[in-house]
Amino acid sequence: MKGLILSGGKGSRLYPLTYSNAKQLIPVANKPVLFRVIETIRDAGITEIGIVVGDTAAKIKEAVGRGGRWDVNITYIEQDQPLGLAHAVKISQDFLGDDRFVMFLGDNVIEGGISPLIAQFANGQWNSQIVLTRIEHPEQYGVAELGDNGRIIRLIEKPKNPPSDLALVGIYMFDPNIFRAVNAISPSWRGELEITDAIQWLVDNQFVVHPYIHRGWWIDTGAPGDMLEANDLVLEEIDYEVEGYVDRDSQVGRRVTVQRGAEIINSVVRGPSIIGENTRIVNSYVGPFTSIGHDCLIENSEIEHSMVLENSQIKDIGTRIQESLIGRNVVISRSPIKPKALKLTVADHSQIGIL
Ligand code: G1P
Repeated sequence: MKGLILSGGKGSRLYPLTYSNAKQLIPVANKPVLFRVIETIRDAGITEIGIVVGDTAAKIKEAVGRGGRWDVNITYIEQDQPLGLAHAVKISQDFLGDDRFVMFLGDNVIEGGISPLIAQFANGQWNSQIVLTRIEHPEQYGVAELGDNGRIIRLIEKPKNPPSDLALVGIYMFDPNIFRAVNAISPSWRGELEITDAIQWLVDNQFVVHPYIHRGWWIDTGAPGDMLEANDLVLEEIDYEVEGYVDRDSQVGRRVTVQRGAEIINSVVRGPSIIGENTRIVNSYVGPFTSIGHDCLIENSEIEHSMVLENSQIKDIGTRIQESLIGRNVVISRSPIKPKALKLTVADHSQIGIL
């Protein structure tokens, strides 16, 4: 069995963070979402993984490389234009060959434990398996209608009046019959070859598509709020470990990870939270549900329920920072120079809330 990860897209809802980085590389609990996807596929026993890349190909290749870090082989497949998930399958046919495969959206974060489901499909008879989950706003996703016997009746992409609350999670398993389906369908109203339509084609042509209902959490990390929510959920799930240094004047909660080379000096850190490699927390408070990336400095400041990406500094901020998503190489500090005023250099599409 092979793996196929879709990692194209502009990530426009995450501007300005995605001006300089691919959305799949934004870390959740200090690890890029894409790395979590690779690990989930690897844990299903798959070693051949194709990544479909678009505009941000260079960034993805630089971060992931050839896969040696995970003991997998990565093949890159270039998609010139974002023409849909079924189009991504089409252009990956040479890589996939006659193998069964799992397709995973590279910006989705799902509760741990899905790997065995993928491994089971490798040895099964079904032509396809889709993962569904109950959500509040199914109209934003592909939606499945199931019959009384649990079989799929139909699948619709972003329906105005959803027939159920079962959304298609971005994890799909196929055998090679999917190539017949992606070649048979036409582009949708949004000009894309929809994987939802391709799966409907399989259903209509009597192939066996098994719906698996996932009962844990699942987040499609498109917008800043989704990122913070994914961060909360992953922080609750990961194992905690203190590898860095905590001085005697600090209080560090039980569910706090302090990564290698990090230092906590005269500070309070409450979990669940993670402090990245070589980051320094000095005379500060870091509250629950916070991820501070590597090589950061938090000094004389208070922050909670937030994400700070690598190489950023927050110094002497008297007001507590909450619910914030702070990018890489950012400096937030108090200036002693008069007049007393806010001095901002802010990227396009940034959002700042001031008391
Ligand atoms: C895609 C699929 C949709 C699925 C969703 C999951 O939507 O077309 O069926 O529910 O991923 O994230 P898109 O992200 O292209 O809008």
